[in-house]
Amino acid sequence: MSGFDRDWLALREPVDVLARDADLLAAAVQSLESLSAPTVLDIGCGTGSTFRVLSSRLRKPAHFRLFDHDHRLLDEARRLHGDAVDLIQGDLNELEALPLAEVSLVTASALFDLCSEQFIRRFVAHVAERGISLYAALNYDGRMRWSKPHPLDEAVLASFNAHQLSDKGFGFSLGPRAWETLADCLGESGYTVRTAESPWTMAAEQRELQRLFLDGVVRAVYEYGQLDENEIRDWADFRRNMVDREGSLCEVGHQDILATC
Ligand SMILES: C[S@@+](CC[C@H](N)C(=O)[O-])C[C@H]1O[C@@H](n2cnc3c(N)ncnc32)[C@H](O)[C@@H]1O
Repeated sequence: MSGFDRDWLALREPVDVLARDADLLAAAVQSLESLSAPTVLDIGCGTGSTFRVLSSRLRKPAHFRLFDHDHRLLDEARRLHGDAVDLIQGDLNELEALPLAEVSLVTASALFDLCSEQFIRRFVAHVAERGISLYAALNYDGRMRWSKPHPLDEAVLASFNAHQLSDKGFGFSLGPRAWETLADCLGESGYTVRTAESPWTMAAEQRELQRLFLDGVVRAVYEYGQLDENEIRDWADFRRNMVDREGSLCEVGHQDILATC
């Protein structure tokens, strides 16, 4: 799969922080504070955004392990956090190699919408067997809305969502449906599951993020190949113009999940 750019992750982090559902985040923090010296494993950690969110709210010490396959992102996490966290490079597909000893909570953000049903089922079985809770935030749910509509919005969204179903390194991805499968699977495995919407709201101040987000949408829609190229170009010009000149608002649907044992 293509790597995630650390500048892109940095740009989206403030929007992610605001988007996270406050009640589920507080409940995840509370679950850690109820334990003495808990250990958290953040999977697909990037540069450590979930660590930053949780650790800044925790009033008791916790031990964090950050796991990712991309050494450039782990290097950035090391630069930002030094020895405050353990950094582990590895492939999530190798579940047996996950460092889960002593872990009471696994966390993830913007990860499960990349995953296949098969991976989600294997992963849930793996953590359920060990009695480990899960806080999985910011799973894309297939919704996108702009303050000013364009006639092609629906067609573009349909192509983008269909493109999300390609293989992102875990087999064919469930994309926008991943969060529901994850929540159902956790419920079937005996977890108490809470879900909450955590939509991204990108306003005029997030112009750069909106531009890059649009670039990604347009690239995916071209690649998917179902829409006429001239139509895509018209839509992209309209949207870019809105971002640059009128400061349009864009909402992108996400879902947070907290599953406790
Ligand atoms: C969208 S980014 C999210 C990063 C971070 N959680 C955040 O919210 O900023 C997805 C992350 O999953 C990691 N990832 C993707 N596939 C992986 C795999 N097979 N094993 C380990 N990490 C993986 C990527 O390197 C990337 O850091």
